[in-house]
Amino acid sequence: MNKKSTVFIFVAIAALFLVSACNNCAQDAKNSPFPDLDQWAREIVANRTNQIGYPVNQDNALKEFYKWFVANDLEMVAMNNVGNPFGEESPLMSTHKYEVEALEFFRPLFGFDEDNFWGMMSSGGTDGNNHGIYFGVNYLRNATGKMPIMYVSDEAHYSNMRLAHLQNLDMRLIKSDSMGRMIPAELEKALDPTRPCLIVYAMGSTFKGAIDDQKALNEILDKYPQMPVYRHVDAALFGGYLPFTQYRYMVDSKELRYNSIAISGHKFFGMDEPTGLFLTTLDVYDHQSDFDIPYLNQEMNMISCSRSALSPLKMWWLIKTVGYDVWHVQAEAMIENTAYLKAELDKIGWPCWVNEYSNTIFMKRPSKEIIKKYYLACSHDDQFGGDLAHIVVMQHVTKEKIDALVADIKASAE
Ligand SMILES: Cc1ncc(COP(=O)(O)O)c(C=O)c1O
Repeated sequence: MNKKSTVFIFVAIAALFLVSACNNCAQDAKNSPFPDLDQWAREIVANRTNQIGYPVNQDNALKEFYKWFVANDLEMVAMNNVGNPFGEESPLMSTHKYEVEALEFFRPLFGFDEDNFWGMMSSGGTDGNNHGIYFGVNYLRNATGKMPIMYVSDEAHYSNMRLAHLQNLDMRLIKSDSMGRMIPAELEKALDPTRPCLIVYAMGSTFKGAIDDQKALNEILDKYPQMPVYRHVDAALFGGYLPFTQYRYMVDSKELRYNSIAISGHKFFGMDEPTGLFLTTLDVYDHQSDFDIPYLNQEMNMISCSRSALSPLKMWWLIKTVGYDVWHVQAEAMIENTAYLKAELDKIGWPCWVNEYSNTIFMKRPSKEIIKKYYLACSHDDQFGGDLAHIVVMQHVTKEKIDALVADIKASAE
């Protein structure tokens, strides 16, 4: 054997050894001292794409982020995004810089101007609604000296009603039509124009995926020009995908004249934990209650003190690595796949309904086995024959998944 061949064999053996050592490392990292936990982890990963009844994106793209995070020992750092991300330097170790950059990515998609914009990453849709309602109350009360009345549809997410109770507000629940949209004539009947109006619009009601017709409802409000109005939009799911579709005008704050909007981060964007965006104008942010909080070294109008520093960093990473073009393709595919699911259910004669612009199809409730297998969310509405379930067509709900579901429903009905 010549010298060259000896070196080659030596290098090949070393490479084999390294590959096997790496495999062992990966295998070791997968096995904790807790076998039950390991088993749970394997099952949850294996089942993830079957979950199609709730609005979460099960195709999250954060693996490289976590590798980078641990490789840089960032798990050793206690970070906290307490305070105003746009404020002066943060007193704690924070990711405010990346939070602001993430918010700036979303600002134009919702039609906010650079010089009149404020936002934060919230802990989810409910937290965003809490801030929308709280900021709205302060804004109107500071301007008029009167407490507003809050108006919201009876199909809107329950968090809005809970928050009205929590904030001790006078709330009027407005009847919606059978598809889940607030009825303009019912709003007009309930309106008290002697008090300021805080209206919460549902942009994607949770079960039927209904979007309140903001233009028609605004026309009602416009009939009372002396009545101060604050509009908050609860766009937990739809505020994620609509900006990336041909229907982006549906979320334009200028066209719709809303003051604030709440969007979930863990729905369309594929964040792996609850988080959200709360976007508003600087004018709203600057007209809140003044509490001086000297130890935070900045003016600070939010309800929550500590906020996650990790989720803004992950959102920033997703913006840079997934970003506008991929979200555009995904959002258009979701709309196309929703139409496909509707057509396939129609073909087998399974009663189902879908609102315009919506990726949520509600249908006659299938068998318990199907509900369990696909994690379907259930409800009841006599206007649609009684027991219902819904499917939310997110990124992982592919045509193949739809074919499997429809085949299961067909087989169960035979
Ligand atoms: C329309 C709507 N608003 C608010 C929420 C609450 O969001 P979160 O669970 O992030 O608090 C949801 C949750 O599904 C929702 O569908």
